[in-house]
Order: sequence, then C-alpha cells, then structure tokens
Amino acid sequence: MAPSFRRLVPALLPCLAQCYSAAAFGPRILADTNRDGIVNHLDGTDKHGWTDRRGAIFLPNIGDSLSRCPAADLTGAPLSNSDLWRCNDASGDRLLAKSARYAAPLLTLPMSELSDDAVGHIYTEPAHTRSRVRLFWNDTSPSSGSPYEWAVVDKQVTFNATSLRRGISLAIDSRELVTDSAVWNGSVTVVFEVTDGNRTERDFVALKQAPVLLHHHLQPAEVILSTAAGGNQTIGAAWQSHFLRGLDNAVAGDVPIVLFNHSDDIWAQDFLEPGFASMPGPDGPISIRVPLRSAQSTRDAGRQVFTQLRGTGIGGFQPGSGSGFGWEEINSGGNIETIPPYTSRAGRRWPNGRVVMGTHFGTYPADSMVTFLKSQEAQSPLFLEAGWLVIGHVDEMVQFLPSNSSLGFTIAVADTTSALSLLRSADSSGHGDTPFVSYTGDATPDLLTFFLDPDLLGSTTIASILADPAFNSTQAYAQRYIDQNLALLLREVPLREQDVLRVPTLFKDATYPWPTTPDGHPPRLGAAPAGERKLKGLVPQAINGLVLGNGKYVAPKQWGPIVGGRDIIADAVEEVYGRVGLEVKWVDDYMTHHVRGGEVHCGTNALREMGPWWETGEQSDGKQ
Ligand SMILES: *[C@@H]1O[C@H](CO)[C@@H](O)[C@H](O)[C@H]1NC(C)=O
Ligand SMILES: *[C@@H]1O[C@H](CO)[C@@H](O)[C@H](O)[C@H]1NC(C)=O
Ligand SMILES: *[C@@H]1O[C@H](CO)[C@@H](O)[C@H](O)[C@H]1NC(C)=O
Ligand SMILES: *[C@@H]1O[C@H](CO)[C@@H](O)[C@H](O)[C@H]1NC(C)=O
Ligand SMILES: *[C@@H]1O[C@H](CO)[C@@H](O)[C@H](O)[C@H]1NC(C)=O
Ligand SMILES: *[C@@H]1O[C@H](CO)[C@@H](O)[C@H](O)[C@H]1NC(C)=O
Ligand SMILES: *[C@@H]1O[C@H](CO)[C@@H](O)[C@H](O)[C@H]1NC(C)=O
Ligand SMILES: *[C@@H]1O[C@H](CO)[C@@H](O)[C@H](O)[C@H]1NC(C)=O
Repeated sequence: MAPSFRRLVPALLPCLAQCYSAAAFGPRILADTNRDGIVNHLDGTDKHGWTDRRGAIFLPNIGDSLSRCPAADLTGAPLSNSDLWRCNDASGDRLLAKSARYAAPLLTLPMSELSDDAVGHIYTEPAHTRSRVRLFWNDTSPSSGSPYEWAVVDKQVTFNATSLRRGISLAIDSRELVTDSAVWNGSVTVVFEVTDGNRTERDFVALKQAPVLLHHHLQPAEVILSTAAGGNQTIGAAWQSHFLRGLDNAVAGDVPIVLFNHSDDIWAQDFLEPGFASMPGPDGPISIRVPLRSAQSTRDAGRQVFTQLRGTGIGGFQPGSGSGFGWEEINSGGNIETIPPYTSRAGRRWPNGRVVMGTHFGTYPADSMVTFLKSQEAQSPLFLEAGWLVIGHVDEMVQFLPSNSSLGFTIAVADTTSALSLLRSADSSGHGDTPFVSYTGDATPDLLTFFLDPDLLGSTTIASILADPAFNSTQAYAQRYIDQNLALLLREVPLREQDVLRVPTLFKDATYPWPTTPDGHPPRLGAAPAGERKLKGLVPQAINGLVLGNGKYVAPKQWGPIVGGRDIIADAVEEVYGRVGLEVKWVDDYMTHHVRGGEVHCGTNALREMGPWWETGEQSDGKQ
C-alpha cells in the first residue's frame, strides 16, 4: 500500500490546477490538513498552523516490516536496550514497501508558468526536525536508477522544471517518537521553495506527529497477551500451563491469545503497556501499534516488545536510561491504567481519556515514562496513591468499565465494606465454622510463592477471621486509601457515587522489611514509611481481571467460603459486574499469580482496537 493519493490524485489534478490557476508562479504544497484521509483542494486553506481541529498528521514509522532488526550483535551478545530500540523501518533512508502505508501523503500543485531554469527545494523546519522526520518523493524518472519507488528528499535535492510543472508526490513519516515535548513536540513545517530567474517564492504546510495513545476499556480487545509456560518447574511452569488452559477456556477463541516466550516472566501486564498512533487514511484510520516497554531497564522480559512483538505495523518505545533503571514495581505497566474519554467537572475535555498512575507515598513513577506520557499532550497522567499496596499498582484497586452511565463507562473500586458484610451475615446466619478459603488443590510452595499462607488454607474460618482485630484494622486501613482515591477520581470525572461499582475485596497485611538487592540495583519493592503498611489481596482480587470487550470479564477464581453450595464472594462479584452487563469468566490463578503477588490482569495484557483520536472542525467530503 502506498500513501493515499496514489489513486486519487490524477482525477483531482484538473480541479486543483483550476482552483489555483490565479497563482501562476506561486508554489503550493498540500497535506491532509482537513483530516479526511485525502489530499485535495479542501486542504488548501488554514494549513499554515496546526490546531486540535485542523492540521495534517503523520506517524512514527517504527515497525520492522522486513524482520531485519537483530536482537544480538555479530558476536552473539545481546544488543543494549537503546541499540535494540533504534533499529526500525525508519532507521534508514528508504521507505520500505511494506511500511509505505504508514507515511503520510503531501503533494505540490503543478506549476505551469515556469521557465526551464526553475528549481525547487522541499525541506522541513525547524532544522532539527530534519534528523527526526523523513521526506520522500515518488521519483518516476527512468534515470533515477533506484529500485525504490520513493527517493529520499533532502534540503539539497533540487527539483527541476519538469518535476515542478508536473507536481510532486511526497510522503512523510518519522524516525522517532515524541519523548519530551520540551525538546520536540512533533510539530513540523514542510516548506516548498521555488526559484525561477531572480524570483524565489515559498509555501509551507504544518503537520504534527500523532501522539502515542494508551488503550482504555471501551476499546475491545483484539489480541490477548500472556506468557508461555517456560521449562523451569522451580518457578511454576506447571502452574502457568494450568493458568493458560483456564485463560483459553475463558476467552473461548473470541480473540487470539499470543504468548511471550523469550522469558519466564509471567507478569505480561507489567513489562509493557500497549499503545498506538493513528492518522486519517482514505479507507479509515491508519494505525501503528506502539507498545511501551516498562521503565525497568534490567527487566529482560521487556525486551520482548522488540524481539517478539515488533513487526509490520508494530513498533515500540524504550524509556530512556536517565530514569527507570532497575526493576522497581512502581514502573510496571500494571501501574498504568486509562480513564475512557470524558469531560472533567472543571470542564476540561479529555477526548482520548486520561492515564492514571500510582504514586508511592511521594515517590513518582520514572520520569522517562511520565515525561513521555505528558509529551503526547493527549492523556496526561492523573496520580492516585498506590503505596499502601505491596506491589503498588493502580490495577489492584481501580478499574474503568463500559456501562450505560452518562459517560459510557463507570469506575469500579476494590471494596472491603461489602466483603466484610458478606462474611458477617454468613457468620450471623450460623456459618461461622465454614472454612474461609475453599481452595483445596495442590499448594506446594516453590521459590516464588511468597504470599502462600498455610494458616489461611488450613484452620481459618469465617468466624475466626472476623474475630481477629488485625484483620479488621487491615480492612479499615485499605478502605481509607480506596475512599481517598475514589474521592479524587470523582472530583475529576463527573460520575455519581451511585454509579461506582464496589467489588468485594479483602486485604492481607504483608508489611515487612524488604531486602535490598545485592547488586546495587534499586529494590523492586518499596518499604512502608513509618506508620504505613503494605497490603495485598487476601482473597484473589476480582478487580484485577481482564475486560475483553464483548461483555466478558475474565477474573481470578475467588476460592471464597462455600455456604449452601455457593462461593458467597464469587456470587457477590458476579452480581456487581452483572450490573453493567459483564459476565464473569473465572480463571484459577491461585498458585500461578495470587500467591506470587498478582492476579489475572497482572498476568495478561491486551492489544485493543485502535481508532481515530483527532477531531475535525468542519465537514469533509468524506471517502471517495
Ligand atoms: C509513482 O508515480 C507513478 C507515475 O505517476 C505511479 O504509477 C506510481 O503508482 C506512483 N507510486 C506510488 C508509490 O505512488
Ligand atoms: C528533471 O528531473 C527528472 C526527475 O529526476 C528527470 O527524470 C529529468 O530528466 C529531469 N529533466 C531535466 C530536463 O533535467
Ligand atoms: C510545538 O513546538 C513549536 C516549536 O517547534 C511551537 O511553535 C508550537 O506552539 C508547539 N505546539 C504546542 C502544541 O506546544
Ligand atoms: C528580475 O529579472 C527580470 C527579468 O529578467 C528583470 O526585468 C528584473 O529587473 C529583475 N529584477 C531584479 C530585482 O533583479
Ligand atoms: C530456574 O529458576 C530458578 C529460580 O529463578 C533458578 O535458580 C534456576 O537456575 C532456573 N533453572 C533453569 C534450568 O533455568
Ligand atoms: C514464540 O511465539 C511466537 C509467536 O509470537 C511463535 O511464532 C514462536 O513459534 C514461539 N516460539 C516458540 C519457541 O514457541
Ligand atoms: C471489627 O469491626 C466491627 C465494626 O467495624 C466491630 O463490630 C467488630 O467488633 C470488630 N471486630 C474486632 C475483632 O475487632
Ligand atoms: C444498556 O443499554 C442498552 C440499550 O438501551 C440495553 O440493551 C442494555 O441492556 C443496557 N445494559 C445494562 C447493563 O443495563
């Protein structure tokens, strides 16, 4: 596929020439300024500036359509993170055939009144953009000798009168993502300059690179990601096989499941965060996936963004080395969620939603990621407090679900109050002796089953846990932070208290002094400051599940108390999700994830539907 003017322009040229016939010499360059996917006369006005509603868009062309990017050097040593990232379809000076559809079209209008001596130049401003973006022209001359249809355009390339008279078809893409808007915000001006005799005239058009957007849950999942069961039985390979069978059954072929297999790291939510960039095309948006590797430079699993996912139509982002060193949990993808589109109570529009991240008692996630997200100028992060959780990810306490609310979504939060009342009512109706946990499967510990609790699986009953004052105060401590975070969200998002879904959840106090790493890396988990605690789910956290988009919600099997043949917590969870029309599909993650510090959401990820993010200020002439 080539940029979109290929078929369309020949038919439009007479109109274009006519439209500008008054400007005999004046050079004209056009891009898809009105965002209808086609470059034509409708793009001729208001093209010198770029606004939210008007202005052409181009993409980072950072896939690897020829699978030519290596993971290792010629000695077999793994490439450094930055070398691994830097190779992509746009890292050379050729517009590779399979990546040409990701380049945005421009064209210069035919110029009839030129002498044979006329010359033209086409280049981008400001000058620093010339190393960031690439311009090509469709050089149809037999003498070009290039095996590529698209010849690179540099400021030094001279276009002759023949080409200027005919009109020049161009394509633009970029080699890099916008990572820091203080350095470059994605804006580019393409200048078209023609000199004939002693006269030089210029025209220009403003473009901006598409932001990388993170998915939200109103976008249906298209591919589910998880991790293949590795060969290492000492770290739970057999359990991962069991989990994957459950996931397969729950997803039931609705969407494909792709398994990471270059690493044993089962936390597929955490070592990346899927994103995408889109621009208008003649047949609908043209999109490239841009998964963000987590800002955890020593977490090798994140390299799979490049070694396994990268390909045609899929690139990736490697956070800079300046921050995000080591493998701190605050920098995991599970600590990055997205509020779907809304207008805030203060009246600020977030047409693509807004990112939510967790702070840990004053500590923020890596600047390399926060600056990246802010620099997209679309979904600037809102921070919640997640430091009261051992792992400390926002996906352990809050979730955004499609619903029939005024906004089309609602907020779900973990909730201890409803879980406690379930237990209290079971107790008072004579079921106090019921075992608190109904899990009866194999519970043989291995090296990573940190949170396996033999007492919980043994003697604990509904009555005994309710009689434990520490249990009570742990729930109260959790609820205080949940309420605080929910209040913050409700001050921002115009939903009502009664729209909020409260997912029964109970917490376990896991506060203890975490060891520092021997190798000088920052510790993976932060310690609790004085007076604070670190909690994790006591029962598998139902809120930590996967929203598929077809009315299905994949959640960790609860293994709650069985009263009258029913898991009372599971029934309550199903009722809550049922209120927004979601059917819960349970997957047993007790030994794979729950006792290792996470649940289903932590162990999976989703590449979701990509769509248009831009707005248009006027009517377009639509598709042709
Ligand atoms: C380049 O221009 C030639 C002649 O107009 C056309 O046949 C060809 O399809 C164009 N190539 C691309 C990739 O647009
Ligand atoms: C003008 O440029 C085209 C494209 O590079 C080339 O094919 C043609 O020979 C040139 N014409 C003249 C008169 O130099
Ligand atoms: C982007 O940067 C350019 C300077 O290169 C500036 O003129 C423009 O106003 C900036 N746009 C935004 C939205 O910040
Ligand atoms: C430009 O060239 C034209 C025609 O050759 C000539 O009449 C005119 O005086 C020149 N103008 C200048 C400013 O040199
Ligand atoms: C399995 O994992 C354990 C714990 O990470 C490690 O010590 C051991 O070397 C691994 N064994 C193999 C065969 O990879
Ligand atoms: C790893 O997964 C990819 C799919 O992403 C698959 O093509 C490949 O065969 C798998 N490799 C192994 C060793 O299973
Ligand atoms: C737990 O809290 C409830 C009310 O908040 C109270 O009625 C109960 O006595 C407490 N139980 C313990 C063991 O402290
Ligand atoms: C949401 O609204 C649609 C259309 O009115 C309706 O079909 C659907 O049942 C509603 N869903 C829920 C969960 O109320």
